[in-house]
Amino acid sequence: MTIAVAPDRALLQALAERLGEARARTYLLVAPLSDEELHTQHDPLMSPILWDLGHIAHFEELWLTRNLDGPIEFVEMPGMYNPFEHPRSTRGALPLPGLAECRAIMDEIRSRVLARVAATDLDGANPLLRDGYVYRMVLQHEYQHNETILQTLQLKLGAPYSPPVRFDLLSARVALPNGEMVRFPGGVVEIGTDDRSEAYDNERSRHAVEVRPFLIDVNPVTNGDFLRFIAAGGYTSPEHWSEAGRRWVAESGAQAPKYWFPGEGGWTTRVMDRTGPVDPSHPVCHVCWYEAEAFARFAGKRLPTEVEWEAAASWDPATGRKRLFPWGDEPPSPELANVDQLGFGTAPVGAYPRNRSPIGCRGMIGDVWEWTASDFRPWPGFQAFPYQEYSEAFFGDEYKVLRGGSWATRPGAVRNTFRNWDYPIRRQIFSGFRCAHDA
Ligand code: AVJ
Ligand code: FE
Repeated sequence: MTIAVAPDRALLQALAERLGEARARTYLLVAPLSDEELHTQHDPLMSPILWDLGHIAHFEELWLTRNLDGPIEFVEMPGMYNPFEHPRSTRGALPLPGLAECRAIMDEIRSRVLARVAATDLDGANPLLRDGYVYRMVLQHEYQHNETILQTLQLKLGAPYSPPVRFDLLSARVALPNGEMVRFPGGVVEIGTDDRSEAYDNERSRHAVEVRPFLIDVNPVTNGDFLRFIAAGGYTSPEHWSEAGRRWVAESGAQAPKYWFPGEGGWTTRVMDRTGPVDPSHPVCHVCWYEAEAFARFAGKRLPTEVEWEAAASWDPATGRKRLFPWGDEPPSPELANVDQLGFGTAPVGAYPRNRSPIGCRGMIGDVWEWTASDFRPWPGFQAFPYQEYSEAFFGDEYKVLRGGSWATRPGAVRNTFRNWDYPIRRQIFSGFRCAHDA
């Protein structure tokens, strides 16, 4: 007997709506910008924003049309928007179109994608289509480039970026002891996931790890904590820094996190078009891995490994169950965590009372990405899918893993198992950290 696979129209329709929502957000973020601002390469680390826009569309055309209609031909479209043909620092010289022309291309590609959605089913025999995976991959790609665009906007030359809307974040200031830690009891913990509907290949497979007991900070390290490190001469005390960290301090001349400026009344900082005193109650943001490492040593602690971070965020030692998010399986929302960009900044630590993991860590999702001690390496059972250039090409000891997403992360692009990575010198990203300690 043959059982016909029921076409999942409702799921496809929901995914098509999410594509529309993602695009509306992309267009909202760039709405305040002139064509010149969109064309400019504001920093050698970042692409002109028009490149991100064209690349978002070409990635979508490749994965939601071409590679669905035949064998996987390319992992990135050949041409101007191929990131491997054109390294970031060279993208300012590309003959990028203006915004109107770029939008016309984006909209034309999207109309073909939607026509395909209307005419075809989620073929369960195709691992790209099964459970709508490839649509979520393309959605997450647009979400991730939104965050990249926000990094660029924070680095922007000329007049600061003026956000098109700004939502209020939760802002309760909770009195929290500095450096408070909580104990993870250790034992066998399940790390990673076997999900194939949304998770990236680097999150698989789910595997058991024997974890030794450890202590981990209840909160991310705050600006207040970091001010004490600076005041104690942290940047000029070589004993806190690794050899590579000392080289980075010497070469960069850094004396504080990126976007901090010394003033008469103390440090000020800027987020987009807003400048004000550094708020000691917020998590520290825009620090590189070496600064995180040095602070941890100064505090008599260390950075958590990636496994420890995920255990502290997801594992309930009382029940032996794993959560998708620190608070449970409910996806992030503005009541749960500071994600989704439109607050344009961090919130005081503890302002989101529901944002607590089973063992009691606060704010593990949202506000700032958290550096971990770990290099970006495959989990046991890793298999590249659907292309090597997403994750596998970056495995090794050059990149450090960050976890938990930031205020600039869209909710669909973060979860307890989500792994981000970057060079240990980078700090234009929305990066902070928390510390750990052997128990
Ligand atoms: C996972 C954030 C490191 O921006 O290089 C975007 C995401 N991959 N397009 C990056 C990504 C392909 C990636 N990070
Ligand atoms: Fe990309």
